[in-house]
Amino acid sequence: MDTLTISLLTLKIDEAKEFNEGACFVVRTQTGVYAYKNRCPHRGTPLNWLPDKFLALDKQLIQCATHGAQFRIEDGFCVWGPCEGACLEKIEVKVEGDKIILPIV
Ligand code: FES
Repeated sequence: MDTLTISLLTLKIDEAKEFNEGACFVVRTQTGVYAYKNRCPHRGTPLNWLPDKFLALDKQLIQCATHGAQFRIEDGFCVWGPCEGACLEKIEVKVEGDKIILPIV
């Protein structure tokens, strides 16, 4: 599988970044690095409201820009909104040293 490597230093804690031309995104928190397809399970629209802007204001959850569904960062589970109980599609991500290794999908 082809991979993409980005520096951990370019992704601050509580920030997100698009990859695969916006089809996917990665989020870094205090507890780890998580990646998902950029597709809301409610209507299939992209989640972000601006480039790289995927998180709610308090940065504790991922928030869909279309109808406001909110998802846990750690597992993509929807805790609030029209698709409550659904999950974002998770992407395996590896962290090796100061590098984040992501699949090209
Ligand atoms: S499209 Fe995401 S909550 Fe409706």
